[in-house]
Amino acid sequence: MKKFLALILALCLCLSLVACTSARNSGNSGGNNDTQGTDQPTTGGDSQTGGETKTVGIAMPTQSLERWNRDGAYLDEQFKAAGYNTIVTYSDNKNDQQVNDIQNMLSQGVDLLIIAAIDGNGLNTVMNDAGAAGVPVIAYDRLIMNDNSSYYVSFDNYTVGKLQGEFVRDALDLDNAAGPFNMEFTAGDPADNNAGYFFNGAFDVLKPYIDSGKVVVPSGQTAFDAVATDQWQTDVALDRAQNVLASYYSDGTKLDAWLCSNDSTSLGVTQAITQDYAGGNAVVITGQDGDVANLRNIKDGKQSMTVYKAVANEAVVTLDLAKAILSGSTVDDSLISASGWGFECAYDTDSYETTPGHKCPSFLLVPDVVTKDNMEEKLVTPGYYVVGSDGYLEATNG
Ligand code: BGC
Repeated sequence: MKKFLALILALCLCLSLVACTSARNSGNSGGNNDTQGTDQPTTGGDSQTGGETKTVGIAMPTQSLERWNRDGAYLDEQFKAAGYNTIVTYSDNKNDQQVNDIQNMLSQGVDLLIIAAIDGNGLNTVMNDAGAAGVPVIAYDRLIMNDNSSYYVSFDNYTVGKLQGEFVRDALDLDNAAGPFNMEFTAGDPADNNAGYFFNGAFDVLKPYIDSGKVVVPSGQTAFDAVATDQWQTDVALDRAQNVLASYYSDGTKLDAWLCSNDSTSLGVTQAITQDYAGGNAVVITGQDGDVANLRNIKDGKQSMTVYKAVANEAVVTLDLAKAILSGSTVDDSLISASGWGFECAYDTDSYETTPGHKCPSFLLVPDVVTKDNMEEKLVTPGYYVVGSDGYLEATNG
């Protein structure tokens, strides 16, 4: 039932959020910090104490990476529909700005914070401030380090990388083909705690083939730090890919695969390969998120797959967790059984350590592989995307 409601919401968002997004963009041409005003609630329940409407602060990293626009929009809509006031900020991928934005939300008296951290190690002060003010925090998608009070809602990040690594393994048929195959890696932002999980998940699958010599990495760059991408920026990934191609492939060396941790980096790598790789073969390229430009590339055969994470469901879990926290209910795996969610989610108290000895109670959703062949079934049928008039997919929520 909740999934159904989430999907109805997603469809309604199609219209309302187009207006919302353009209002944001016109109000702030840089697309930087965006703080929406609080809105009147539509219902009561958990959202009120003594007749007063509770306010939830939603701090997203940036509007320049596509997915956070979807997350911000879903969270905003779902909390409003449940009767809460909301304040939504985007902090232009700048940690100092996110700290300020969160401090402002605290001074406006928010009852709960939902934070997708720009720098998982950069929020110590505000986390202390939130603790002192008795404001609970949900670390959204990205873990907040040095903190022992928050809850975590995300996808199984290691599995995201594992799915990418397995895709490359199967696409190249590494268990049967003779090889050797040449491949390269591009990982995410070192400030984002998720990035290491994605990389390790993929690398653990591919390492045995590298060790045996069936897979060769001509650049020799296999350490996370060597292949990381500052702030997940497309341009940064593009520059490094161009350098690698010029240095190690311009002599005609064949490139078989490029493992990219997400779609924004994949976009840069794909551009570099399209422009600068002389070989005629299709290169296996991975991604994550289902960004619209990448779905176009997948349809056109330029990118092989993306790991899709249904952020509408991530928002549903966040809402139900917030309700439980704000109503003083015990938070444990009973939330999952009581919720009636129509999707898988695990309660994990072991995987994510924020301070030595403190494991953050986590709700982890399950990621899924999207390819050219199953794109419509996985993305259009559930209502996350629609097929546009040009045949390419378009997101339904901004
Ligand atoms: C998210 C990914 C996203 C990346 C860049 C990560 O924390 O989990 O879905 O691609 O940030 O925005």
